[in-house]
Amino acid sequence: MAIFNWHDNYSVKHTVIDNHHKKIIELFNSLYDNFNEQNYDIYGTVLDELLAYVDYHFTTEEQYMADINYEGAKNHIHEHRKFTEKLIELKNSGSDGKNENCQELIYYLGFWVLNHETEKDIELIELLVPNK
Ligand SMILES: [Fe+2]
Ligand SMILES: [Fe+2]
Repeated sequence: MAIFNWHDNYSVKHTVIDNHHKKIIELFNSLYDNFNEQNYDIYGTVLDELLAYVDYHFTTEEQYMADINYEGAKNHIHEHRKFTEKLIELKNSGSDGKNENCQELIYYLGFWVLNHETEKDIELIELLVPNK
């Protein structure tokens, strides 16, 4: 069951970035489900995939920032780094289901993505021309 639901309200009206965000949310749903269903092998694999994909996504956004010399870049990039640290914290907390904080952290990080899209990403994307 999907716990994180992507909705059009989360759209930043940019096809590439919207598709990235949808993929991240899909991975978070898979992470949450596999953790709760105690499929720890799959959970570990999805977590690695999520880490790699988030890195790819942040690199894309940060390239856009560099392209337009974005004045909000420092704060935005700081948020990306904090998020990645938390995701690594989740990975380091183990993929064997023994840490009860995992579920809480997955939940927190999934909603972080949705909030970040509407608060930070949209400010950046609105400045991109042309808006794809
Ligand atoms: Fe971002
Ligand atoms: Fe983003």
